[in-house]
Amino acid sequence: MDKASTTDYLRFTLNGRRTCIECRPAERLSTVLRQRLNAREVKVGCGAGDCGSCTVLLDGEAVCACLMSARQASGRQVETVGSLVVNTDEGRRLAAAFHREGAAQCGICTPGMIVAATALLKTTRAPTEEAVKDALGGVLCRCTGYRKIIRAVRTAFDDLAEETDGGVGSRLLRLDGWPKVDGSERFGDDVAPASALCLKIIRSPFARAGFSFGDLETHRRNEGLTAILTASDIPGRNAFGVIPGFADQPVLAEGEARFRGEAVAAIVGAPETLASYQVQNFPVEWKELVADLHPSDALVSSNLLHADRSENILCRGVVRRGDPAKALADAAEIVEGSFATSFVEHAYIEPEAGYAEMKDRRIIVHACTQAPVMDQEAVAEIMGLPMSDIRIVPTAVGGGFGSKLDISVQPLLALAAWKTGRTVRLTYSRQESMQSTTKRHPAEMRMKIGVDGSGRITAMEFEGTFNTGAYASWGPTVANRVPVHASGPYRVPNYSARSLAVYTNNPPAGAFRGFGVPQAALMQETLFDDLAQKLGLDPLEFRINNALENGAETVCGQVFKQGVGIGACLKALREQSREARSEVAEWNRQAKSRGEKVRRGVGVAAGWYGCGNTSLPNPSTIRAGLRADGKLVLHQGAMDIGQGSNTVIPQIFAQALGVTATCLEMVGADTDLTPDAGKTSASRQTFVSGAAALRAGEAMRARILERCNAGPEAVISCEGGTVLVTDGENVHSLDLSLLPVNHDGYVFEVAETYDPPTSPLDSNGQGAPYAQFGYAAHLAIVEVDESLGLVKPLKFVAAHDVGRAINPLLIEGQVEGGIAQGLGMALMEEYVPGRTENLHDYLIPTIGDMPPVETLIIEEPDAHGPFGAKGLGEHVLIPTAPALLNAIADATGVRMKATPVTPSALFSALQARNG
Ligand code: FES
Repeated sequence: MDKASTTDYLRFTLNGRRTCIECRPAERLSTVLRQRLNAREVKVGCGAGDCGSCTVLLDGEAVCACLMSARQASGRQVETVGSLVVNTDEGRRLAAAFHREGAAQCGICTPGMIVAATALLKTTRAPTEEAVKDALGGVLCRCTGYRKIIRAVRTAFDDLAEETDGGVGSRLLRLDGWPKVDGSERFGDDVAPASALCLKIIRSPFARAGFSFGDLETHRRNEGLTAILTASDIPGRNAFGVIPGFADQPVLAEGEARFRGEAVAAIVGAPETLASYQVQNFPVEWKELVADLHPSDALVSSNLLHADRSENILCRGVVRRGDPAKALADAAEIVEGSFATSFVEHAYIEPEAGYAEMKDRRIIVHACTQAPVMDQEAVAEIMGLPMSDIRIVPTAVGGGFGSKLDISVQPLLALAAWKTGRTVRLTYSRQESMQSTTKRHPAEMRMKIGVDGSGRITAMEFEGTFNTGAYASWGPTVANRVPVHASGPYRVPNYSARSLAVYTNNPPAGAFRGFGVPQAALMQETLFDDLAQKLGLDPLEFRINNALENGAETVCGQVFKQGVGIGACLKALREQSREARSEVAEWNRQAKSRGEKVRRGVGVAAGWYGCGNTSLPNPSTIRAGLRADGKLVLHQGAMDIGQGSNTVIPQIFAQALGVTATCLEMVGADTDLTPDAGKTSASRQTFVSGAAALRAGEAMRARILERCNAGPEAVISCEGGTVLVTDGENVHSLDLSLLPVNHDGYVFEVAETYDPPTSPLDSNGQGAPYAQFGYAAHLAIVEVDESLGLVKPLKFVAAHDVGRAINPLLIEGQVEGGIAQGLGMALMEEYVPGRTENLHDYLIPTIGDMPPVETLIIEEPDAHGPFGAKGLGEHVLIPTAPALLNAIADATGVRMKATPVTPSALFSALQARNG
């Protein structure tokens, strides 16, 4: 705003165009840009300057638009990513480099990253790594692990070649990648029409509280609200949950709130009405009740969280094999110990958001999600409507990592649209997102391991109690998956693993990259190092000696004749482990001689992960059609939340059909347009949906070849409305315009389903829970400043058995991103309700925290995966944290038994070590 003026008009230049707009006092620049000027490429992840996703250039300087009053832009130049990519050499090159390097996964942070990097490249075209880290230090990314971002910025002005072949095994660039780098991708908060009403949720300020409402109708009228929604407005079932038989979470609580941040009511109104609405005026009376926050309290508490249960136990899991008690009694050596982990927040940069509208008496929900068909089922149940009355149209997803498998904004949006007949939007604030959505289960674990005289494991006993929060969410999955995986990928003839999921007055714990396996791996893999040390063995060789092999039985009695890649992963680390240990020993000797209190250490750890649901049906369907104009259309409903299914699944389909992936037209997830490809979770999309895509490609190929009477080796190509099939010397020309078109508009159409073969576990947990496992082993090198308790990771080497690398570029991205999350879990992340409900108190790794990562791709083909491929997403995070803790122990001699290993926790442990 012109300082001399008394009007509420703001004048500035936006992307080269002079702009004049009305501006409310204290309105943020981010709000004006996004909501008044439709600059949706400016993302808002926190509204507090913590995540940097709203970074814009103000007179050439990178600033957080959410921290600035719009009036501070008066008379100045504001530039956003959309303009920079089109109008500046730096922006154009950065966008191309981010795309080329795979530096944008979900893409929600990318506009802020590219804007900040543009400012840097205007000062130097060849920045050092440190300069990049300095310039981008204020922008958070939860997906990539930053390494590809660093490389993209440093090489933006290098003319590097792109690989464009596109076949299975090639580094095909993301087919949906360009909108992520030019700012045109539309996430949950970017899609609602301007005319939409807004929705605000009234949440419990207490971990446990009774409540009653005052005169809601009078309040509605007095405040000018369109509607107030409570549980009594829900026409169907006021309960949802992701596991059949465990739908125990209300959309709006009734009578009692069971965790801080639980929704009890919602108000709907015009945006300007809700902007000035004071939540503390809502007529609700609270009665705070005694809350059970810890499983040990909840297990003996008379306050039952759920009246239909006789105790605060959600479920138990077990796997038993052989006679572990006897084997432990007979063991030549035994180690035992305990380990505790914290609540970990997903901290995706995109808070939950979307809008709902009524069309032809159907409810259409547009929102970020990992599981559109599950959302459709849940909303239909809540609304008491058939599924056909609900359509889910997913937006782009700015990170999920498991939490966006559970519904969040969807049911209230549907209810509000249905009740008002209007379009209604909702975006969670960062605090709401952190308060109310699922977390990683905190675990308290104990384990005992015995070996024989040759260092072979003879027995293991594991017990784990998992804090599942107030509602079930994915608690049953965690409880069932952990006992299957707690052995790690090793031969264990005598085994007992028991898990317990306990309700407490905390936010629900649910799915988070690994479903409890990363917690169990911390227990088992750190104890392995203690055992190796006791035996005087190299920790890597101890693992190699005990690793599962083809033909060996898992703890569930399952036998894989091929594809067991853990031995290959561990052996791939041998040389680097040896070198690193010798270099670190020399480095420490010199540091000690100089009297320095800094030490380095090397740690290894391994992991495995069964891809897909545990012993449950898990189908995916992929549909494809060939139009009369020769266009091949792939109906691909597997949600791409940054991991790359929009690229990998077309690659698989195209290879099976015999064409290139880049010639496909894609129809993305939409419950009206794509068949159910299941949820994006449990590392199942490349494996399960990929296997369906393989079959769909083969079926389409068979249809075309059959029509042309061609042999199986024939080559297919499309030229306009003609398909050419070259079969040896013969070339068949198929004029598609002469073929009948079906009701979907295709001349050929196929739909294929794949469901991995598994079998139920018996009462001892014996059976075939997964059709395939993926395997991983990590090496971590750290530096510990003992005077501060500060851990600085220096390097990771990550070996991953992916069966067949469909796209190595995307694999590297998954590995680097998973390691960053494992690093956060190990060293800094702890969600505490009421204390760490934002991104400045809850710390996640920044670009400065991530060291180089060397990815070693191992390919032990799997019998079921498409072209032998295995899942990868969850696997990556599993070995990272224990490898770091083992490296810390190697550096300091201190065995940490809880995460996160914060500087204060490690400092205290070092003090104790020093007596
Ligand atoms: Fe950075 Fe997803 S790509 S947050």
